[in-house]
Amino acid sequence: MEEAAVAVMREFLGGFAPRVGLVLGSGLAGLADAVERTVVVSYGDVPGMPEPTVPGHHGEFVGGMLEGVPILLQRGRLHLYEGHAPDVAVLPIRIMAGLGVRTLILTNAAGGIRRTMVPPALMLIVDHINLMFRSPLAGPGRPGEERFPDMSAPYDPALRGVARAVAAREGIELHEGVYAAVLGPSFETPAEIRMLERIGADAVGMSTVPEVITARAAGMAVLAISSITNAAAGLSAAPLNHEEVLAAGASVARDLERIVRGVIRGL
Ligand code: HPA
Repeated sequence: MEEAAVAVMREFLGGFAPRVGLVLGSGLAGLADAVERTVVVSYGDVPGMPEPTVPGHHGEFVGGMLEGVPILLQRGRLHLYEGHAPDVAVLPIRIMAGLGVRTLILTNAAGGIRRTMVPPALMLIVDHINLMFRSPLAGPGRPGEERFPDMSAPYDPALRGVARAVAAREGIELHEGVYAAVLGPSFETPAEIRMLERIGADAVGMSTVPEVITARAAGMAVLAISSITNAAAGLSAAPLNHEEVLAAGASVARDLERIVRGVIRGL
């Protein structure tokens, strides 16, 4: 599936060779507008790519320069909760790998579990817990991918160091923690959040982990940052809704953009 998609993307990109892949989360897609000398490729033009179904998510790849670095940005993530099979949800990552991308930067919206992290806030993901109980690597092994990838340091320590340094320099508070990935699309119950807290999760969301697993299998270095848009269920009196997630994401989006730009500039 990915060979045909990579071939089509190569044609659209016409010799443009991205080094960095960027996947932007809910309410965080603004960085796409900052990409210079842009090539936009609709998912509909790429074999195997479905249309995203979530408000706040577009459906296109954006190629161009950001901070002087050639990047390929995925605007419109594919979530498992939309009903996409895991290997479909991560096709953009396999396309990036096929195009030679070696560094993947992901953002997402997440619910905050650790009580000292008051939303809206930013959290550098240092590790994850995969509670989606699915892997994009299940099925036949793929050429160029590790069959049993090591996951002892899925989030690149050097990139994390750079992100930390950029945040400190820019005066942006950047928490660090463990991201638990759940299938969704319902938000969690308070009992589920208490369980997640006990097993060591600091934040919870419905994305990112399938992409990270795929990227690690393909040998990419990964950086991921969560926008903590709300206190997870049961930690505040307010019921959760997607509109609130989008609005809160927008309020820290500028800080997150500054961190991502700073990291890319340092590559
Ligand atoms: N739970 C799961 N996913 C989320 C949340 C949440 O509270 N907020 C944003 N994405």
